Amino acid sequence: MDIFKLLEEYGSPLYVYDYNVLMERCNSIKKFCENLKKGLSDNILVSMHYSTKANSNPAILKAVEQSGLNVDCMSPFELMMDEKSGFSHDRILYVCNNISASEMTLVKEKNVLICLDSISQVETWGKLFPNTNIMVRINPGTIGVGHSKEVITSGKHTKFGISEKNLPLLFETANKYNLNIIGTHQHLGSLFLNDKVSDYIAGVKAGLQIVKKYFNGVKIIDLGGGFGVPYKPDEEDLDLSYVTTKLLEVLKEFVKYYPSIREFKFEPGRYIPCESGKLIGTVTAVKHENDIWWVCTDIGMNQLVRPSMYKSYHEIEVVCHSNNKKQEVTANFCGNVCESGDIIGEKRLIQLPKVGDAVIVYNAGAYGFSMASNYTGRPRPAEIMINNDDIKLIRKKETLDYLINNIIW
Ligand SMILES: Cc1ncc(COP(=O)(O)O)c(C=O)c1O
Repeated sequence: MDIFKLLEEYGSPLYVYDYNVLMERCNSIKKFCENLKKGLSDNILVSMHYSTKANSNPAILKAVEQSGLNVDCMSPFELMMDEKSGFSHDRILYVCNNISASEMTLVKEKNVLICLDSISQVETWGKLFPNTNIMVRINPGTIGVGHSKEVITSGKHTKFGISEKNLPLLFETANKYNLNIIGTHQHLGSLFLNDKVSDYIAGVKAGLQIVKKYFNGVKIIDLGGGFGVPYKPDEEDLDLSYVTTKLLEVLKEFVKYYPSIREFKFEPGRYIPCESGKLIGTVTAVKHENDIWWVCTDIGMNQLVRPSMYKSYHEIEVVCHSNNKKQEVTANFCGNVCESGDIIGEKRLIQLPKVGDAVIVYNAGAYGFSMASNYTGRPRPAEIMINNDDIKLIRKKETLDYLINNIIW
């Protein structure tokens, strides 16, 4: 790929996705699903719901749809994207957090199964729609797993789910409205790799223990997402066959004593589009101040917030025009936003680029564009999908006119 040509044609910065990498990840998660199913009894379904929040571009969603995976979503926008990308309502799960009565009404009208996250939300739903089926999110109470404390969603310090202690009140509330709790859900957090599989499994065990102890006749158990990808060069790919083996040890035992179970669901987000996406951009300044080299680019926290929000690591490559004199330096990469935290990478050993050279930020396909913002009034980048020699524009770069669309002057 001629990066300079792409930047010229579609604008800088630019999100670039590789269709083949995306499909590879869809296929490996499908295989994981099939292997789990094989290890369980024939009448138990194992289904994967790609978590739309990771990347909601319809080109990604359509690829996921065509590969036979399902989706989960958590907002009317995500639901609309899922519908427009071809998912029928029975393949969508609405896993929400603190939503309004009108949003609940939308979900009900669409006949999409909802997973509610607190007793308060169950009360709101029950008043509106008594005698219906729901899923509920539990907090298994173990420490969650995640790449940063901001994405750990289980344990004592999280806003998510209903803890064991409050389950009697949950059942009282559900009974008051004759709600049928057909499934439970848990999500421990985002991003575990091989070294944290045992924590993930401990969370699964704890959750299943709670289901066994308190819930009667549940048909669906959703074990969430969190399947990680390596961001750093020394990290290994998540070994899905190892996860399968470990999960089967627990699930096989569970189904023996819990005969009503019909389906295990999972909600991988990042795992599917992350490695297919790169964010490419342009070097706009190079400076050396107080013994620090700074490579300043048009990629900042508004285009990719993960490094400044979570201190996440992304590999960065510099692509220099061929006539550059070679000078190896250790440098920080930053964007053009008025914040000291507007840093994309720190202390990277690179060939010093010049203004006009390009940068590639890797593994930007998940929580990249979907978390991008217009902070400081910068339009969000275009997105393209590359499938071998075919390049397709899948979202235009925003314009200043687009940004002022809703303003009343
Ligand atoms: C409820 C729920 N399910 C699934 C996911 C997807 O997580 P991941 O992208 O780590 O797989 C998230 C992420 O925040 C989530 O909150």
